[in-house]
Amino acid sequence: MKAPILFCVLGILAAAYCQSHDLAVGQATYGDVVIYKANECKYGFPFIVRSSIIEYPEPGLTNFAYIRAIYIKDNDRDGSGGYPTISAGGVGQRFVKIKLKSQRGNGFNFTVTIYGRY
Ligand SMILES: *[C@@H]1O[C@H](CO)[C@@H](O)[C@H](O)[C@H]1NC(C)=O
Repeated sequence: MKAPILFCVLGILAAAYCQSHDLAVGQATYGDVVIYKANECKYGFPFIVRSSIIEYPEPGLTNFAYIRAIYIKDNDRDGSGGYPTISAGGVGQRFVKIKLKSQRGNGFNFTVTIYGRY
């Protein structure tokens, strides 16, 4: 009785492990525009965790658009890429701080797209 559940959980874990780590929050609809788009990538070094912080707007600048959606696409389709998290701000606000963190020994390659509405 327990075995099928275990295999199912293992299957889900395996599937999650072998995939890219995209992050999508919010929903861009008609009238929303791309207010930020950038590729952020870092090469991996053995035993090292690489990380980046992306801030929108850049410190010292002002953004007048409300953020509607944030799409972070992991370009490493084999699951070796990093993990994105939103550490401050986000959808419904006018700023966001995104943390990108690699797996130990690996790099990452993300495309960050932010949609907003004025
Ligand atoms: C990152 O991914 C993009 C999209 O797949 C690709 O065009 C680019 O060459 C990659 N950058 C590196 C350094 O691998």
